[in-house]
Amino acid sequence: MELTAEQRAMLNGDLGRGKAMAMGVQVGIGKCFDAPRMVPVQKVHVSLSAQEADVWFSGRLLEAGASCAVAPTVNPGYSLDYFRKHLTPEAIANMEETHRIYQSLGARLTYSCTPYLGDNVPEYGEAAAFSETNATIFVNAVLGARTNRESAASALCAAVTGCVPEYGLLLDENRKGDIVVHVEADMKSAYEYHLLGMMGDKIGEGIPVFTGLPKVITPEALRNLGAQLNTSGAYGMYHIVGFTPEAPDLETALGHKKPRYEVTITDRDLKEFEETFSDKIPNGKIDFAMFGCPHFTLEEAMYIAKHIEGKKLAVPMYILVSSHASQMAGRMGVTDILAAAGAEIIPDTCPDQPCWHYLKGKVGITESPKCAYYPRRRGINFIIRDLDTCIQAALTGEVN
Ligand code: F3S
Repeated sequence: MELTAEQRAMLNGDLGRGKAMAMGVQVGIGKCFDAPRMVPVQKVHVSLSAQEADVWFSGRLLEAGASCAVAPTVNPGYSLDYFRKHLTPEAIANMEETHRIYQSLGARLTYSCTPYLGDNVPEYGEAAAFSETNATIFVNAVLGARTNRESAASALCAAVTGCVPEYGLLLDENRKGDIVVHVEADMKSAYEYHLLGMMGDKIGEGIPVFTGLPKVITPEALRNLGAQLNTSGAYGMYHIVGFTPEAPDLETALGHKKPRYEVTITDRDLKEFEETFSDKIPNGKIDFAMFGCPHFTLEEAMYIAKHIEGKKLAVPMYILVSSHASQMAGRMGVTDILAAAGAEIIPDTCPDQPCWHYLKGKVGITESPKCAYYPRRRGINFIIRDLDTCIQAALTGEVN
């Protein structure tokens, strides 16, 4: 692999053990993928998990003297302010250690999985290093910037060295679509994009090119589509004809080649998924509602507040957001409206964390299949429905 003098100095340890360790990992990855060289990056997002392997690896980098050349944004763990009373001393120490390590490495402690909506937005054509399922695909497909599906560890190494091996989705030829997906379903809200993204089994392996979607698609709907595509099928890229930047028309999106095959997604596909993916609850009773996987926007929190203002929820409602959205909701009085009804805004937190142990054995309702998917391994069950139905269910305590 061709390295610049500075990159070679990093690899050889001339710039310290920390840089050498990070560059060693990246050169190893580059060799695996026959990358000819490294390219610089200025935007990095690390899908910090605050779990054992993550704390171990980031801690080793820090011990070796590493610091970030590019300050990355980071994924959520769990809010100590909110969860402290539910946490064991070990869990508190773990999150404090995560915070200490990433702060010392020079990361931006955003603790949100939607950095592309404000904190960390790569430009069209720019090479970047993003981990986190919903973020990598948004950066590629919606922003037209270029990132591989980095792991938390490889993205952190990119933050330390300021470069990434050039392969995969960084190259023009690997960004073209090869499966045409005709959407005949009624895409009436951001929820249907969650369901469309869960069609990985039907779409198959490749880069989907969607046709038939509405002319206007909200950032929340695009966030949902990418989050679920990457969850259901490990997609790093998609196109929407006439909408995403590398798909002005079908021919361009396909790189002027024939698609390998075409599939059609209908309302029936989406409905069937909703029915089979939801846990079966005989009496329809729910214990809580949870939203924000990926993190909800301020606008979504405001939407819920509008619909529950002056009412009382029958079950707790947890709304997971970035700390920016949380602060803004507080300033605007949205948090108070939600709290008066029994809903809570929680920053910095992901449903896939041990802090939710007190929900074990309970049944939640959510609009996000990804939110339902991960907590199941912790014994928490979920029904999935559109947001309006979820809000109504939280008000009555049950769902049909
Ligand atoms: Fe974000 Fe955690 Fe969901 S990182 S997408 S809230 S699983």
